[in-house]
Amino acid sequence: MSSRGRENRDDPGSSSRCLTLLEKQKYIEDYDFPYCDESNKYEKVAKIGQGTFGEVFKARDKKSTKKFVAMKKVLMDNEKEGFPITALREIRILQLLKHENVVNLIEICRTKATVNNRYRSTFYLVFDFCEHDLAGLLSNINVKFNLGEIKKVMQQLLNGLYYIHSNKILHRDMKAANVLITKYGVLKLADFGLARAFSVPKNDQKNRYTNRVVTLWYRPPELLLGDRNYGPPVDMWGAGCIMAEMWTRSPIMQGNTEQQQLIYISQLCGSFTPDVWPGVEELELYKTLDLQKGHKRKVKERLRPYVKDPHGVDLLDKLLQLDPNHRIDADTALNHDFFWTDPMPCDLSKMLSQHTQSMFEYLAPPRRPGQMMRHYHQQINQMQAKPQDNSLIDRVY
Ligand SMILES: Nc1ncnc2c1ncn2[C@@H]1O[C@H](COP(=O)(O)OP(=O)(O)OP(=O)(O)O)[C@@H](O)[C@H]1O
Ligand SMILES: [Mg+2]
Repeated sequence: MSSRGRENRDDPGSSSRCLTLLEKQKYIEDYDFPYCDESNKYEKVAKIGQGTFGEVFKARDKKSTKKFVAMKKVLMDNEKEGFPITALREIRILQLLKHENVVNLIEICRTKATVNNRYRSTFYLVFDFCEHDLAGLLSNINVKFNLGEIKKVMQQLLNGLYYIHSNKILHRDMKAANVLITKYGVLKLADFGLARAFSVPKNDQKNRYTNRVVTLWYRPPELLLGDRNYGPPVDMWGAGCIMAEMWTRSPIMQGNTEQQQLIYISQLCGSFTPDVWPGVEELELYKTLDLQKGHKRKVKERLRPYVKDPHGVDLLDKLLQLDPNHRIDADTALNHDFFWTDPMPCDLSKMLSQHTQSMFEYLAPPRRPGQMMRHYHQQINQMQAKPQDNSLIDRVY
């Protein structure tokens, strides 16, 4: 896709050294990318994201000035081999997925290769623009979701997950910043930069996927314990963390290290034992890590003061199951009473119409743990400074 690929094969600079720089420039500029428009058909309006893999801009289509897009730059820094394989994977997956609750990839475009950029085009993934991301919305205290609206968010999120899982795709980076919401209240799963296709393992042939995926605070226990034969439940754990965040307004388990994340999980969901999670003892890190014993499961108890709605508490309990085989799947979750009792899921557009400014994680001040969370984190830190009977430490969000 890049002009460099062509340079390697019949670069005028190497095969016919007598070409002047101007001729060389013309040669490359004339190179035709029939399915890849130039990025100058869009006009950048503002930077809205800075991810691990590049910057994201809000931009306007010059032809129809009312149409906004999001342009995600493909990071080419360390690429000696042309277009990065990780971006190719993201594009292939996005091209496959077409659903109301999955972000829509419009096209890939590129800057012109010129002498100024040493004939290296910059590529962009161009998406339909969404006005907000969920992390941005949750960090703004003026944005208030009622129970019906929370149900609508979760219903759309689970619809998106049901669709991608049915298409044998794992997202592997569920978090509030990767959940977009349009001003009309339509939720879109975004950021397929870590996504991959999966197959259901046969008994004798286990998958060996990398477990270094998912942002730490949303990473499920099986990945933290080294599982490489995982599946859709990894995304369901993230859905549970996001659902709790709809009430707590900040991520519920903010570990600084993998070890600390495991501690937070066991203090909320109970210690990892073969009783509650048959087969956990076979995971690579189960024996090598010093896992805390004796923690009781406290999911319902801890989240009830925030969530209040008993069906909501019950669904959270089913999403935040330690054993991935017992974790609820998207289909079953969509049939949960939470979505079928009053107040029913309701449209978000009215609430969102009160906010005229876009809200993105990138533009928001860092989210701090709330008062009660701070109290809890202080306790954890004290506990880590002086080893003691951890079962006495109370978890408070
Ligand atoms: N279509 C879109 N409309 C509006 N904003 C978007 C869109 N796509 C991405 N963004 C914003 O840009 C941010 C970063 O995008 P994305 O998550 O795809 O990139 P990334 O580099 O993989 O990020 P990270 O590594 O931080 O997860 C998102 O969190 C969101 O705020
Ligand atoms: Mg992201």
